[in-house]
Amino acid sequence: MNIAVRYYTKTGNTKRLAEAVAEAVGAEALLISAPIEEPVDILFLGNSYYAFSIDPEVREFIRGLDSSKIGHIVNFGSAAMLNSTYNKVKAEADKLGIAMDEREFHCRGEFKGIHKGRPNAEDLAAAAQFAKDIVNG
Ligand SMILES: Cc1cc2nc3c(=O)[nH]c(=O)nc-3n(C[C@H](O)[C@H](O)[C@H](O)COP(=O)(O)O)c2cc1C
Repeated sequence: MNIAVRYYTKTGNTKRLAEAVAEAVGAEALLISAPIEEPVDILFLGNSYYAFSIDPEVREFIRGLDSSKIGHIVNFGSAAMLNSTYNKVKAEADKLGIAMDEREFHCRGEFKGIHKGRPNAEDLAAAAQFAKDIVNG
């Protein structure tokens, strides 16, 4: 099974989650500036909320995907207050006809002193387990 992990981060929280996910599934955690060259069965996509939306770069990344190369997207990330970016990411994926897994990983992420230390070790372990469960069906 081919697996890719891409993420966007402003303050490092999603990078830490992406590294936990990638290590769990034997892939490399790369920034969304790294294009998907080979077809993948699963694209783990890490992203977060900024001012009530996903970052425009994440939107552009999804828009630039070649739908014939992506089996499906698995969303993961963190936010300080909102639940998850799932619907925003799915709205973009839908436009291209790329399937989104209904399962996702979401946890709290530190922002300006709120949720200090999150994602913490427990969050990272949960993200890793989530990723393993996805890959193992
Ligand atoms: C500029 C900025 C705007 C943010 N806006 C929101 C928001 O609207 N809602 C929310 O729940 N969290 C918001 N957050 C919190 C982030 O979603 C949270 O800290 C997340 O863990 C950041 O991930 P990152 O470190 O990978 O960028 C914001 C964070 C930043 C830096």
